[in-house]
Amino acid sequence: MSRTIAFTTRGAPITPRAAEGTHASSAAPAGLSIQGLVKIHPGPVCALKGVDLEIPGGMFGLLGPNGAGKSTLMSIVAGLVEPTAGDVLLDGTNIVDNPAFVRARLGFLPQDFGFYPELSGRAMLEFLLRLKGISGPRGRRAMADALLERVNLADAAKRKVGGYSGGMRQRLGLAQAIAGDPRILIVDEPTAGLDPEERQRFYRLLAELAVGRVVLLSTHIVDDVSTLCPRLAVIKSGLVVADTTPTAARESVDGLVHEGFIGDADLAGFAASHRVLSAVLVEGRTNRVRVFVPPGRPVPDGFTRSAGTLEDAYLVLMRVADHEVPPALARSLPTTTEAAR
Ligand SMILES: Nc1ncnc2c1ncn2[C@@H]1O[C@H](COP(=O)(O)OP(=O)(O)O)[C@@H](O)[C@H]1O
Ligand SMILES: [Mg+2]
Repeated sequence: MSRTIAFTTRGAPITPRAAEGTHASSAAPAGLSIQGLVKIHPGPVCALKGVDLEIPGGMFGLLGPNGAGKSTLMSIVAGLVEPTAGDVLLDGTNIVDNPAFVRARLGFLPQDFGFYPELSGRAMLEFLLRLKGISGPRGRRAMADALLERVNLADAAKRKVGGYSGGMRQRLGLAQAIAGDPRILIVDEPTAGLDPEERQRFYRLLAELAVGRVVLLSTHIVDDVSTLCPRLAVIKSGLVVADTTPTAARESVDGLVHEGFIGDADLAGFAASHRVLSAVLVEGRTNRVRVFVPPGRPVPDGFTRSAGTLEDAYLVLMRVADHEVPPALARSLPTTTEAAR
């Protein structure tokens, strides 16, 4: 069922807790191994079409547009949803057969985390700790206070959650997720709706909390990945279309991206005959346009070569035909025979 995907072991270190756990043999590979994962939701909607990923540890980014299958993948890894086919191994233990194994080692910040707005931050957190059945040596209240301190919410502990900003809510969500020192932390689109300052603050906190854990972060925001993740996968319509590093992704499109200016009236015509990655309106009059020019194709008049970015690489994967995606980027695109099945 599972395909082998080449990937580099650059990036995250393997942690000492790696082979811990009663069910894992000492020879078991550390980290998360996702093998041939398929999920067909009622409908039917095929949300995952055979996903393979090896995630040894540290922060791993899952980047993809809405509807790509990110939340489905995360709910399966969290042991909350059963896959239609495939396996997920955490430190060598198959969690599809044994969801309790992952639940005991999991911190999860779901995409839509519900809070009770009338509760204070501290009361909300204590309630969540009670639900998780977690208490510290000095009791649940002391544990909640320590966690609030950890996520820089001590000053807001007594304020109602309903009055928290988006960033404060997400930090409270992280506080419950890290309670009990989980081996694996799953955060699903945590920065959506945060303003730039809140986002930076959240990034810093998440980077601190990632030390010594497997962290799976899903997002549709390229900046999240370039800021936080030494490794990433790009997911599109239920398939992993790249499994790479931000640097390798940038390098794979370097020399193939060109930038120029196109007036509003001409943009649609230009886009019909070029592979436009992005068009940004400048001063309400013209557009700064980035195009992907496959090797051997002519560069549009007036355009100049521009250093490739992770955003360019992502947009190439989203918008350019599979056969034109640079091979170095499309390491895990399905082969023609696989796609035809
Ligand atoms: N419980 C469900 N029942 C039916 N379809 C679902 C369900 N959950 C997700 N889907 C569908 O599966 C696809 C992937 O969804 P999702 O995993 O939420 O993607 P993402 O998180 O990347 O936006 C979408 O087409 C979505 O509508
Ligand atoms: Mg989602």
